[in-house]
Amino acid sequence: MSKKVLSVLLATAMTAILVGCAGAAPAPAADVAPAATEEAAPAEEAAPAEEAAPAEDVGAGQKVGVAMPTKDLQRWNQDGANMEEQLKAAGYEVDLQYASNDVQTQVSQIENMINGGCTVLVIASIDGESLGTVLETAKAAGIPVIAYDRLIMGTDAVSYYATFDNYMVGTKQGQYIIDTLDLNNAEGPFTMEITAGDPGDNNAKFFYNGAMDLLKPFIESGKIVVKSGQVDFEQVATASWATENAQSRMENILSTNYADGTNLDIALCSNDSTALGVENALAANYKGEYPIITGQDCDVANVKNMIDGKQSMSIFKDTRTLAAQVVKMVGQILKGEEVEVNDTSTYDNGKGVVPSYLCEPVFADINNYKELLIDSGYYTEADLQ
Ligand code: BGC
Repeated sequence: MSKKVLSVLLATAMTAILVGCAGAAPAPAADVAPAATEEAAPAEEAAPAEEAAPAEDVGAGQKVGVAMPTKDLQRWNQDGANMEEQLKAAGYEVDLQYASNDVQTQVSQIENMINGGCTVLVIASIDGESLGTVLETAKAAGIPVIAYDRLIMGTDAVSYYATFDNYMVGTKQGQYIIDTLDLNNAEGPFTMEITAGDPGDNNAKFFYNGAMDLLKPFIESGKIVVKSGQVDFEQVATASWATENAQSRMENILSTNYADGTNLDIALCSNDSTALGVENALAANYKGEYPIITGQDCDVANVKNMIDGKQSMSIFKDTRTLAAQVVKMVGQILKGEEVEVNDTSTYDNGKGVVPSYLCEPVFADINNYKELLIDSGYYTEADLQ
């Protein structure tokens, strides 16, 4: 296959991915091409020929800096790999960096990207509040910044934001709990404990609020009882989203409130790394019936737990879809075209609303994980064994 033909196919495959992101279909993964490097034949018929312009024409050779927070969490490895692969397929050079969840490391990496000739920066921040100064340098150098997945706060140097609908992630978790326990009709009371994300991550409050806006009325009416009394975001947050931190907090809660044999009915967890901590704590310290446990990301360890009946659901955020959207935005910026956004009201970073593109998160559980994760090529069967 010639390079030209390959690049047309890759561009077409990416267009097909974008259709998955922009469309209203509830399961974007199902109509996503497996991966840009694989056979792109099915995608060929999924997109009109005129959209398949060779990607090399678009700002080819420009260098894009991609700053990711950490390799510790599975999803960021996938995000980084997808961004790199898709940007390269579109003809760009890529400087991809991971910062071991260390803010100062991320700041230096961004400085190097600016000094190293990157013409666009894509940044998934570690602490949304800590990049203001370095981004002033980017702004002074005329380098546009796309905040990736997490909003960067307190600076007007962020041009765009691309993410999944973070509030919707929380409402899907909350609604799952309501439906599974039939909270509107059941008598209860049900016990619940809450584990939220990192306070430095702007997403964490969106997830928490999405779920709690639905569940708070049940707490107020007494149908849900939080025995630890820890309900406010600050009380239930998990520093760095770390599994160990979620685990030790839950171990304390279990020994203080559930050692008398009381069942824990619900563990609302904002994401999979924190859910894993809660699952570890339960495995070590809890003898009662397993609670409903929510999560987010469909990390391998958590999907395995879902298959084993130890986690009830997760939220699937197809990192290929987000990467494809961001690659499209990079191209639009470099071509001086209008950048596609679909939300201009939700994400105010303290200096104004940042124009955003929100992809749709998808509910995942034991019943649909095969279709979502395996049939779409996100994981292989072997990954989940
Ligand atoms: C992301 C989640 C992820 C969490 C921890 C959030 O900003 O949106 O998908 O689970 O960070 O890395």
